Amino acid sequence: MSLNQQATHLKRREGAEGGTKYIAVASGKGGVGKTILSLSIGKGLSETGKKVLIIDADLGLSNVHLMLGLTPQKNLAHFFFGEATFDEITVRIDERFAFISSGNGIYELAKLPKDQIISLVRRLQELAEENYDYVIFDTPPGIHDDTVAVVSSADFPVIITTPEPTAVADAYALIKIINRENDVKDFFLVVNKVESDREGKKVYESIRLLTERYTSAQLSHVGNIRYRKTLIRKIIEQDPFERGFMDDVYNILSNMNLEVAPRRRSFWEGIMSRLLGR
Ligand SMILES: Nc1ncnc2c1ncn2[C@@H]1O[C@H](COP(=O)(O)OP(=O)(O)O)[C@@H](O)[C@H]1O
Ligand SMILES: [Mg+2]
Repeated sequence: MSLNQQATHLKRREGAEGGTKYIAVASGKGGVGKTILSLSIGKGLSETGKKVLIIDADLGLSNVHLMLGLTPQKNLAHFFFGEATFDEITVRIDERFAFISSGNGIYELAKLPKDQIISLVRRLQELAEENYDYVIFDTPPGIHDDTVAVVSSADFPVIITTPEPTAVADAYALIKIINRENDVKDFFLVVNKVESDREGKKVYESIRLLTERYTSAQLSHVGNIRYRKTLIRKIIEQDPFERGFMDDVYNILSNMNLEVAPRRRSFWEGIMSRLLGR
């Protein structure tokens, strides 16, 4: 089978409810809330009966496990090199909710021969889609090839920022690059650490002004998250699901309309063509 034929085998697998959906959470600047948002979205979805996997792709400061106080022994790189099974790299948070740490798995993967990349990605796809309704990627901040590939391939690319001007500028830069390089049009914006909805709306308007003028991207403002002092205490206690924060996340989830059919091209096809096209 040719590489192209193999790659087209990475078609979306149709599950009971139209297949696994992929969410990417990304930001220009670090420390704006990607990890806590990824976890909270996962928690919210798992509470509705969905099976959710978080892939912690933030290699520098992998902190999904730190927030939960659960330390993975093995990561995606071990899986790719045959040193661990998918089960062995999966850390359970609760019955329907789990995470895996990517380590430097995606980076290592890109260095392998193409046919090996294809078969590993296909295996990963099968395992993810047999076991989960949603896969959420917590990405590293900034504009890296891997982040751009993951965000561009996701069904739901979520950009998170705070009202800080540097974070806002970097969020716009990220959207602009992904739109320009990969022609991604639809982005979801979350504004975190706001004092009021008005503040969040202002941030959204300022980014929208730029995206409308200089890109072909469409930005949907799916909600704000209030700054909450008590969250820090919860994070220290490694039980990061704060009630008020979760309320804001439920609102975001309902605005995201996650039941809509995913894009026709599968997440893995997108990742594949971007990895192989390098
Ligand atoms: N809504 C919020 N209110 C108060 N503190 C927050 C809020 N969101 C995030 N934080 C704080 O910001 C820190 C960084 O969040 P985190 O999710 O780790 O960001 P990132 O993954 O983008 O680096 C957290 O440790 C938490 O203390
Ligand atoms: Mg993080």
